[in-house]
Amino acid sequence: MSAIHVLRKLSRKPPSRLHRNLLASTFSMDLPPDLARTTLIRPFLNHPTHRLIPSCFRQSRPLPNPVSLREFSTSVVETKNFERVVGLSPNPLVIERIHKDTGESVSGGEIQIEESLVVREESEAEKEAWRILEDAVVRYCGSPVGTVAANDPGDKLPLNYDQVFIRDFVPSALAFLLKGEGEIVRNFLLHTLQLQSWEKTVDCYSPGQGLMPASFKVRTVALDENTTEEVLDPDFGESAIGRVAPVDSGLWWIILLRAYGKLTGDFSLQERIDVQTGIKLIMNLCLADGFDMFPTLLVTDGSCMIDRRMGIHGHPLEIQSLFYSALRCSREMLSVNDSSNNLVRAINNRLSALSFHIREYYWVDIKKINEIYRYKTEEYSTDATNKFNIYPEQIPPWLMDWIPEQGGYLLGNLQPAHMDFRFFTLGNFWSVVSSLSTPKQNEAILNLIEAKWDDIIGHMPLKICYPALEYDDWRIITGSDPKNTPWSYHNSGSWPTLLWQFTLACMKMGRPELAEKALALAEKRLMADRWPEYYDTRSGKFIGKQSRLYQTWTVAGFLTSKLLLANPEMASKLFWEEDYELLDICVCGLSKSGRKKCSRVAAKTQILVR
Ligand code: GLC
Repeated sequence: MSAIHVLRKLSRKPPSRLHRNLLASTFSMDLPPDLARTTLIRPFLNHPTHRLIPSCFRQSRPLPNPVSLREFSTSVVETKNFERVVGLSPNPLVIERIHKDTGESVSGGEIQIEESLVVREESEAEKEAWRILEDAVVRYCGSPVGTVAANDPGDKLPLNYDQVFIRDFVPSALAFLLKGEGEIVRNFLLHTLQLQSWEKTVDCYSPGQGLMPASFKVRTVALDENTTEEVLDPDFGESAIGRVAPVDSGLWWIILLRAYGKLTGDFSLQERIDVQTGIKLIMNLCLADGFDMFPTLLVTDGSCMIDRRMGIHGHPLEIQSLFYSALRCSREMLSVNDSSNNLVRAINNRLSALSFHIREYYWVDIKKINEIYRYKTEEYSTDATNKFNIYPEQIPPWLMDWIPEQGGYLLGNLQPAHMDFRFFTLGNFWSVVSSLSTPKQNEAILNLIEAKWDDIIGHMPLKICYPALEYDDWRIITGSDPKNTPWSYHNSGSWPTLLWQFTLACMKMGRPELAEKALALAEKRLMADRWPEYYDTRSGKFIGKQSRLYQTWTVAGFLTSKLLLANPEMASKLFWEEDYELLDICVCGLSKSGRKKCSRVAAKTQILVR
């Protein structure tokens, strides 16, 4: 059996430590050195005595440059562009490009990000933003691998803001990619991949394999009196406030991996065997069987951007929309073969069930609120209208007046006898971007933003959620959190970083003028206010109470919005249109058996016309 054959077999499921050791002892000699290192480094990394990732100092070659199975087996990779990529040099971004028709070598240099990038005169704010972003770059063994969360010179207690956060890096990555710089993103994706299989424990308990860290830090440790080395130290939530596992990290990693391919045209990264394994590990973790009755992902409070107690445990929209996007990305990126067939099938089924569930049960507009208002309760049957036994008294008084005639949104969360009617911005925008919601719902979400401009945008885009939890709600739901007081921080503070997601949603829906208006508002203040992390008060008038200044994702979100608006073609590579095939998949089989009615089939016509 060849090494390749063994790797193919192993890639069907994550290799166990025993398998990897076996592979190491049997095949390390006939594997290309890069591949041997990537595959075999994991048992070593997983060893509990190695808390930190081995540094560049210990490695025989700098990370990361392993080749993919396809590359070393054939040396020729057909890219989705009109070119072939031949071979791979030790520099991760240097490839030889062969023109498809003429056979000529087009360039031996860096991957051309996109010839169509628009060059514009930059404003003062943009110039400063680029300077700050460049200064935020973190290097590991001399190579750029990410950006710190904040670089506030006045901050005496940076806590973990001096780390590279996975979710914070996404707008930085997009800004770099849209500017034509791919190296930092590629390095980031590969280094975080190495951290994925870390031995992670909180009080001797380990979460599932495949978890991506919330953040990591490059530390310099002394080997002896004269020598030091750099190491990567990840945090999987074991040091974070609340000690919550960052469910969104792996989802963002997958989304960024796809974006990297789409914007650079370098699809060889996602085709690599270790990267494919990384995608599979994340997907397996998300798709693992549990006690769930719903296709939504069940998580603890604070497992995403809102990373402390805010009453978003259960099935929060933000996680569901990122989950849906990551499923769509994985479906696009996974190589279909014997080892991935079952996973791809599971992904398709989940995509279809998830979109049905969210479109049907999370959607609220004036008509739906009226329906809920008249709900019968305590319905015992499989075809109940009020499936989650929602008591109409739960509809908050503010909502009755607030909901516009035109427009609607997706609920923040749905649980038995509980609807969280708060409007959560990231989840709604990301549902638009990924087509988790229907085309009509997408329109309606933007209509709502327009109608409720003063509440969601006000003086500074964008409210993280609306409205704030006050009085007893604040006391009970946040646990009296002094950082999350009403209209501050996660409790309805305004976060300029959300601009880029708003921009993408507006561009997808053909309404860039909305994003331009919000961006202009932000541009007036951000530089003068020194790029705060968030703003406080109902209308976002004041810099946040405990807000960091020179917050990197504020800077990067601003730049990314600018670049997206200037490059609509590039922006279009980052969103998804409705997938009609997915809508046809119904796996429950009930409609065929005839014994019971399939509620999905019954509801489908209704959901599609909405
Ligand atoms: C805060 C935010 C979180 C962010 C981190 C770094 O913890 O809640 O979303 O990733 O800061 O900026």
